[in-house]
Amino acid sequence: MSKNQECVAMITGGNSGIGFATVKKLAAQGYTIILASRNQDASKKAIEEIHSSISNAKVESIPLDLASFESVRACASAFQAKGYPLHLLINNAGQMFDSKEGRFTADGFEMTFGVNHLGHFLLTNLLLENLKASAPARVITVSSSLHDPDLKQGPATDFDYDNLKAEKYYDAQIFYKNSKLANIWFAYELNRLLAGTGVTSNAVCPGFVPAAIGARRKSPFSKFFFTQILARMPFARSLEQASDSYIVAATRPKFASVGGKFIVDGEEKESSEESYNEEKARILWEKSLEWCKLT
Ligand SMILES: NC(=O)c1ccc[n+]([C@@H]2O[C@H](COP(=O)([O-])OP(=O)(O)OC[C@H]3O[C@@H](n4cnc5c(N)ncnc54)[C@H](OP(=O)(O)O)[C@@H]3O)[C@@H](O)[C@H]2O)c1
Repeated sequence: MSKNQECVAMITGGNSGIGFATVKKLAAQGYTIILASRNQDASKKAIEEIHSSISNAKVESIPLDLASFESVRACASAFQAKGYPLHLLINNAGQMFDSKEGRFTADGFEMTFGVNHLGHFLLTNLLLENLKASAPARVITVSSSLHDPDLKQGPATDFDYDNLKAEKYYDAQIFYKNSKLANIWFAYELNRLLAGTGVTSNAVCPGFVPAAIGARRKSPFSKFFFTQILARMPFARSLEQASDSYIVAATRPKFASVGGKFIVDGEEKESSEESYNEEKARILWEKSLEWCKLT
């Protein structure tokens, strides 16, 4: 892409948290940004806030509910109807659900896996031709260091294809970690499949960002604990710091041609041994194609 060519970026869940902090930085750099978000009122407010500080910002919104394949398809079609190029896709939206009660996507998948992995898998595949036609282009998928099965922080991942719909048991933390492992397998497999196309795919971990978690907490105590206590701990990352990792992946010249990397605190890091298992990544890809009814 030449320097004076307009860059177009789509980001999922970009109206809050780390996604919104990233959008502000990209808007300041002149990107045209599409907020693909399920809450259009929140997107409208986010766009107004950006315009209040960057008057010539180019930010638009398209509805997207990652928990519905129909909505994901409608989002991709709405983007394609605009006729824009696509230089950057940031698969940022993600959530951990407390219980499995009522936590299934419109297509019957457990919600955390469905939203964090499957929705993004479908969206990215539907936009692949747009990315290739706009090359050099980048896909960034937001994972977490919690994807590492050897990390001794609570229960470990347990990626079991016979329990992806919580048929055997449900544990919110395990399902979240599984989805973040799926995010990395997806990012690395996508990069292998995109070899020679001019499109790269990398994964990012924003670090532990209590400000983003606390903003969602309903209890005043919990909100205070995350935003005022945990946010001040040395191991915490601010929204500014966390979004810097996205910006590095999105704009550092190296990552226009280098993919298959894991970027943490703005630097390349090794991801877990499990995340480099190409066979498992390929199986997840094949199964995800079937689940999303993609040929
Ligand atoms: N905060 C951390 O410590 C941390 C650590 C590691 C990784 N991460 C990852 O960083 C990413 C951003 O999270 P955050 O901390 O900035 O939290 P956040 O502010 O809660 O952002 C999550 C975004 O995901 C969106 N989302 C949830 N379900 C969706 C759905 N069905 N369809 C479309 N969008 C949906 C939310 O939209 P609504 O506003 O409509 O709910 C929200 O905009 C996530 O992938 C998260 O897993 C965060």
